[in-house]
Amino acid sequence: MKKVVVVGSLNFDIAVYTPRFSTPGESVLGNSVVLGVGGKGSNQATAVHRSGAEVIMIGQVGRDFMAELLHKHYVNEGMSEKYITTTDEAETGSGVIEIEPSGQNSIIVVKGANGTLCDENVRAAEEEFASADVVLTQLETGFSSIEEAKRLAKKYGKPFIINPAPHQPIPNGLFEGVDYLTPNETECEYFSGVTVTDEESASRAADKLLSMGVKNVIITLGKAGVYYAGENGRMLVPTTDLKSVDSTGAGDAFNGAFAVAVAEKMDTETALKFANCVASISVTRKGASNTMPYRHETDKLLSDFYGITL
Ligand code: RIB
Repeated sequence: MKKVVVVGSLNFDIAVYTPRFSTPGESVLGNSVVLGVGGKGSNQATAVHRSGAEVIMIGQVGRDFMAELLHKHYVNEGMSEKYITTTDEAETGSGVIEIEPSGQNSIIVVKGANGTLCDENVRAAEEEFASADVVLTQLETGFSSIEEAKRLAKKYGKPFIINPAPHQPIPNGLFEGVDYLTPNETECEYFSGVTVTDEESASRAADKLLSMGVKNVIITLGKAGVYYAGENGRMLVPTTDLKSVDSTGAGDAFNGAFAVAVAEKMDTETALKFANCVASISVTRKGASNTMPYRHETDKLLSDFYGITL
C-alpha cells in the first residue's frame, strides 16, 4: 500500500447553508447548519485514506469538545492518530463556512491549535518520511512545521506538495524546490500577481510561480478544470459534469487524490483526471471530510467520464 504523509490542519466546521452570502452589517436568515469535521489537512488526509493509501496525519488539536468530534472521525475511518498531539495553549482550529445555493462557499478559518504545530512535532515523525511515497502540506499550520516537512521530504527524496491555502504572507523561499504547488485561482493571483481568467493568463501565472523555483504548478479552476505547467509540458484538463451542491473541501479532495496519484506513479494527465474525479464527487455532497469518495466510486467516474481504467 502506498503511504502519504500529511502535515496539516484539523478543524471543527460550522457550515451554514444560506440563500445568499451576508454583506457587512447584515443578518441573513439561513436555511440549515451542519457541524462537521474539516480543516484542509484533515480533509486531504481523508481523501488520501478513502482513495486507498495509508495516511500519516501530523497535526494538533486543543483540549475541547471540538477535538472529540475530530477524534471520532479518525476512529470511524480507521485513520491513525499517532502524530496528532493535543495542546493546552490554544483551542482546536475551526472553520465558519457560508454556502449559497450554487454550491459556492465563503470561509473564515481560525488556526487555533493548528497554528502551534511546529518543526518539533514534524521531526517526531521523521521515520514516517523515510518510508513515505509523498508528502502533502497546506498553509493552515505553523510555518516551521511546513518548512520541516519540506526539509524531511527533501532529505528522503520524496515528492513534496504544497497546497498554498489559505493565501497569506509566507516565509522567503518556501516555494523554492517544491515539486508540486496547487493553488486555486484566488491563491494563484495572490502569489503570482496574475489574474487568471483563461488558459493564456493561467500560463502566465504559472510562469511566475515556476520562476520562484516550483517544479510543477497545478492551478485548480473550478468548473473550468485544471491547468498544469511544469516538467511534463502544459495542459488544461477539463473537469467532469457532476453538479455541485457544496464546494467546501473540493480543493482538498483534489489535493489528497493527487497525492495518491503521484504515489501510484500515474502519468500527469491521468493523475489530474483522477484528482478531478475525487473533487467532482465530493462537491455533490454537503460537508468537508465526510464528502470524500471511496476508491471504487472514483475509479467508476474515471472510467465513465474519461474512459480511463487504471
Ligand atoms: O478547504 C475547506 C476547509 O477549509 C474547511 O473544512 C475549513 O475547515 C477550512 O480549513
